[in-house]
Amino acid sequence: MTQIQHAHGTRASDSAEPAPWWRQAVVYQIYPRSFADADGDGLGDIAGITSRADYLSALGVDAVWLSPFYPSALADGGYDVADHRDVDPRLGTLDDFDTMLAALHARGIKVVVDIVPNHCSDQHVWFQEALRAGRGSPERERFVFREGTGPGGEHPPTDWLSAFGGPAWHRVADGQWYLHHFAPEQPDLNWDHPDWREDFVRTLRFWSDRGVDGFRVDVAHMLTKDLTEPLPSQAELDAMPKDGLHRTIDRDDVHDVYAQWREVFNSYDPPRTAVAEAWVSSDRIPLYASETSLGQAFNFDLLIADFDAEQFRRVVTHNLELAGRTRSSSTWVLSNHDVVRHATRYGLPAPERRPDGEPAVKHGMEWLRSGGTDPRLDRDLGGRRARAATLFMLGLPGSSYLYQGEELGLHEVADISDGERQDPSFFRSGGEDVGRDGCRVPLPWSREGVALGFGEASPHLPQPSWMADHAVEQQSGVPGSTLELYRRALARRREWQCDEDLEWLPTGREDVLHYRRPNGWEVVTVFGDADHAVSRPVALLSSDDAVGSRVVPPQTTAWIAPSRTD
Ligand code: BGC
Repeated sequence: MTQIQHAHGTRASDSAEPAPWWRQAVVYQIYPRSFADADGDGLGDIAGITSRADYLSALGVDAVWLSPFYPSALADGGYDVADHRDVDPRLGTLDDFDTMLAALHARGIKVVVDIVPNHCSDQHVWFQEALRAGRGSPERERFVFREGTGPGGEHPPTDWLSAFGGPAWHRVADGQWYLHHFAPEQPDLNWDHPDWREDFVRTLRFWSDRGVDGFRVDVAHMLTKDLTEPLPSQAELDAMPKDGLHRTIDRDDVHDVYAQWREVFNSYDPPRTAVAEAWVSSDRIPLYASETSLGQAFNFDLLIADFDAEQFRRVVTHNLELAGRTRSSSTWVLSNHDVVRHATRYGLPAPERRPDGEPAVKHGMEWLRSGGTDPRLDRDLGGRRARAATLFMLGLPGSSYLYQGEELGLHEVADISDGERQDPSFFRSGGEDVGRDGCRVPLPWSREGVALGFGEASPHLPQPSWMADHAVEQQSGVPGSTLELYRRALARRREWQCDEDLEWLPTGREDVLHYRRPNGWEVVTVFGDADHAVSRPVALLSSDDAVGSRVVPPQTTAWIAPSRTD
């Protein structure tokens, strides 16, 4: 076989030390309010996670990442944190957290928690103090308060727009305005203020001391800002090069914050890990993934790509090359709590692309807006492609992030009424952006019951009846089910793990990708509609249970066992 390309990151075997756990981990994202509801109030909780520890262990994940479970008014699904060092009383207590951590650790599962440093909740004690203390006070210095413009300061200081739609400034009772890049209930923090620097170090230590293994850092690219007057307009901001000196995004000086965090992480044994959620151009990703910064960064390129061989191949080669520039490993993601689930994306027509390759509209948005009727969703095709893409991803070197429910083959939920929606992007865009509630609907654990086994009360977001067919109970032990496929794939992956290299093999077809790992583990994905013959017998297929054949069916990934195990 001809080696046509060789991409590699840092090899686990470069040193005599065993590779750190995070380099090639499978990390399962839990959205706690929608995972399992132990106390029967319709909202998932920490004890619910503990009650499903055996499920996570049988699934075979290496780690879980918990989206925020902190006290919150839930203006943005918990990403509006009122107290970074406590548990939302509706979700449990710190004791419940410790019990959950022990239960997961006892099963060899690491725990990563979400840290939200760009903003806090308007209910945070420091923001409440700032409101009370009034203009010009030291309390307001912790946030970004400015006078308005126009007669009586009635217009915002600038025309900046928030990520969820509408202005990025909100006016308080005494007439000043504060900056919020997300919802008005999420005031941005002033990272020039030493209090936040100290406070976040305390928070990182608080969770690390309890035994947490790592942190996912929310909007890691936005903390530091150059807010010297005069402030630019939105058009000027948009036109500024994103070269590290941009006024509000991806500034080089954000890494001073992370250098301090790195000292904290490295003061633990083993060092605590971090992964940056940084939506920046790919040449800037290595800054976040470097050993002196957060150490690893998400790459969302697979998530943005269509189900297309050429796009997948480009994404993989490019990101392995990027990871190789640092001593980090790559990350892969197909679904998370912010996007339309990949089974659904792949069952809808591919979105139109802008000249830079980005989707012109958020994939699945039109379909969501129509309540799930237009364009028609091909559920079976989407599910089949999703399983193929997942197996393609799980064979890659680096760490893979799974989002709760994808192992059940769940589709996005489109039929949520306006009155039931929770996402601020829905409200702030006047319904133009339907929001992210459809991927946050509580999981179906059983076929029956008021909440399909999620809990004893009606769930905080409605579960459509089709979800019963995807229930854990319905799939467990059933050959060919998506759940059993994930379980088998994760077990094989653990057995077959090897150095972080990948070699592309020729396939003679544009719609088929074939790669090989250093121990001979091979992964073949057919994106198109015709079978593809392989020379060695298949050990795992994404589309059915047949093993031992030498044919990979359409829209299917095959795994071929390693010729040797390391
Ligand atoms: C999180 C979102 C959240 C936003 C603001 C994101 O990147 O993933 O769910 O709405 O940050 O915190």
